[in-house]
Amino acid sequence: MKNRVVIVGTGFVGMSYAYALLNQGTLEEIILVDIDSRKAEGEAMDLNHGLAFAPRKMLIRSGTYEDCKDAKLVVITAGVNQKDGETRIDLLNRNAKIMQSVVKEIMKHGFNGIFLVATNPVDILTYIVWKSSGLPSNRVIGSGTSLDTARLRYEISQYINIDVRNIHAYILGEHGDSEFVCWSNAFVGVKPLKDVIDSMPAQIKFSDLDKIYLDVKNSAYEIIQRKRATYYGIGMALVRITKAIFNNENRILPISVFNDDDYDIDNLYIGLPAVLNENGVDHVVKLNLNDEELKSLKKSSSILKHSIDSITL
Ligand code: LAC
Repeated sequence: MKNRVVIVGTGFVGMSYAYALLNQGTLEEIILVDIDSRKAEGEAMDLNHGLAFAPRKMLIRSGTYEDCKDAKLVVITAGVNQKDGETRIDLLNRNAKIMQSVVKEIMKHGFNGIFLVATNPVDILTYIVWKSSGLPSNRVIGSGTSLDTARLRYEISQYINIDVRNIHAYILGEHGDSEFVCWSNAFVGVKPLKDVIDSMPAQIKFSDLDKIYLDVKNSAYEIIQRKRATYYGIGMALVRITKAIFNNENRILPISVFNDDDYDIDNLYIGLPAVLNENGVDHVVKLNLNDEELKSLKKSSSILKHSIDSITL
């Protein structure tokens, strides 16, 4: 198996991911696959012209599903994306068909690595990729709430004026309208966020956290209204997940993982913190959620289950 990622879909998300991989010097080989092979060729040519400025040598080329055979990771970004006013779940029927045909083609060539799904609705499509591929659930993951969590950390960081890397907090659940903040497990450095707010009553108020949550949950809609799509944030979130795999990091990341017994929810993919390494998901990190958070997780999982039950696999 080569230190290779195959990116399926050279649209805005796939190419933002590829561009971030190149600039961060993440791995040795990037193969671009698209139904529009000329587009994939052009994108590879354009990226290769940046190699002189990149932190390391990389092999970048367009390819076919056959290149998945030796790949450690296949990242699926192909599909239609949200238009102004569409929810992520509105994309399900169109993207489910694309997902099933892409996975069928890839598995024909004996792929035996890890799938990372970014196409929306990502939790449901990750489930479909898992079902269609026959791979073990720990080797099929989705970007989940990794971008939402980065948005949350950014908003909290701006609000309390502390570096984003010292903000430890998660968005959990659906990567979508039913996502929620796990406030009970939010920390600033090693201090619970709750204690930080209690210690600064004049500067920060708990009621402002509701606005932070809404700003995070509605970020994609706000960006899409202004620039018709989101792609830089998700591209960099995909690189973070890729590094955890290629560098065998055992990194805890909020990704779309298979959950079959925790929190009384079963047989679905949903955004939870999980330990990720070169073999995929090592385990899901079980959090002590309060009653409100458990209710939110249950609501999110039932929305996902309902959507999964609505499609024919
Ligand atoms: C977003 C897309 C990736 O949240 O769903 O920007």
